[in-house]
Amino acid sequence: MRILITGATGQIGRWLLHTLAPNPGLELVLALRRPQPQLDSLRAWLAARHMQPAATLRALPFDLDHPDRAARLVKEAQPDMLVHLAARFAWGLSPQQAWRANGLTSLALLRALNHQAPQARFLHVSGFMLQHRAHLARLGLDETGQTKDWPAVYCRAGGYEASKLQAHVEMRALAAALAHPLLVLHPATVAGHSVEGELPDHAALYQLCRQLLKGRLGALPGTPAHRLPLVAVDHVARFIAALVQDPQQRGGDYLLMDPASPPVPVLAQQLAQALGRPAPRRHLPIPLLRLLLKGLPGLARWSGSHPESLDFLVRDVAFDTAPAERLAAGWGLAHPPLEQVLAATARHVRERELRR
Ligand SMILES: NC(=O)c1ccc[n+]([C@@H]2O[C@H](COP(=O)([O-])OP(=O)(O)OC[C@H]3O[C@@H](n4cnc5c(N)ncnc54)[C@H](OP(=O)(O)O)[C@@H]3O)[C@@H](O)[C@H]2O)c1
Repeated sequence: MRILITGATGQIGRWLLHTLAPNPGLELVLALRRPQPQLDSLRAWLAARHMQPAATLRALPFDLDHPDRAARLVKEAQPDMLVHLAARFAWGLSPQQAWRANGLTSLALLRALNHQAPQARFLHVSGFMLQHRAHLARLGLDETGQTKDWPAVYCRAGGYEASKLQAHVEMRALAAALAHPLLVLHPATVAGHSVEGELPDHAALYQLCRQLLKGRLGALPGTPAHRLPLVAVDHVARFIAALVQDPQQRGGDYLLMDPASPPVPVLAQQLAQALGRPAPRRHLPIPLLRLLLKGLPGLARWSGSHPESLDFLVRDVAFDTAPAERLAAGWGLAHPPLEQVLAATARHVRERELRR
């Protein structure tokens, strides 16, 4: 089975590679911005974890900012499945930048796959906020994510989140028009690996640990009832790897979220304990915090918080994780204990910050 993977160097992508690499029946074609150096560095990353891939690995050039190059990539790779993980995942993106990379390129990849390999499977990654009806309504979207005014959504949610929402809606419509089944994952905020704790510096949880470590978190965002829904990166990687290796799975939406994700005060307490720092007890309402972060860019820089990241804190939402949990249970997968994940994540951040 030949799998074309975009975003293999990312937080989820590298652990997916780690999970798939032992399978000698797989050919993994990695779509990378700088194919050779990035493939070499991924091989070194695997080797540092005592992993000599049994799967065949090769790399092809890919750039999310050029949707017009998607067809050539798919033609060269001729995959049986395309796992599209790459995204411009950053705060403060312009609507044009975000939509080109996260929307137009996803659509171009699906069109190309349907044209060149109509039987091949496509896995797309959206986000958990699509199941948060009240949030969608606040942004001006109906329950299916439709709106007549996308510019207003970009203005309210920021480029990253708005482009992921719009991409989801338009990918669904295109898949229906092409009659091409679509596998869609909706991960919660992705935490570090349950043993290694590794997660990138730009991840929301990294920034929260960093603020706690540096004593820069004077108050907790939201109310004691707010939660930051989380899922360990190794669970996400194992889930995608199982989907890849189960050709019966051709379509469906799966929300990946650890149901044990605690309220913010408990999360902060657990991370602070692992970091050897005190956790704040006071709370700041989210609208006020958003105003402060928008009005005082220096505060955002100093604290590492961005107003766009506050949208991922939720309260009183019942998320439906049952379809994903059923599939995972069928494959014998379970979430690693979240306390262990948080302790490993905090350890990783502390060690990395000490080395800076
Ligand atoms: N992590 C989360 O909390 C979370 C939650 C929900 C959904 N998701 C979604 O899950 C997917 C994977 O997320 P992640 O956390 O693994 O992301 P990540 O760590 O930010 O990695 C992003 C990946 O995209 C690639 N990329 C960025 N710009 C590119 C460009 N112009 N051309 C080609 N490749 C480019 C990066 O390659 P380089 O190494 O070359 O930069 C990297 O491999 C994304 O679609 C994201 O929206 C993530």
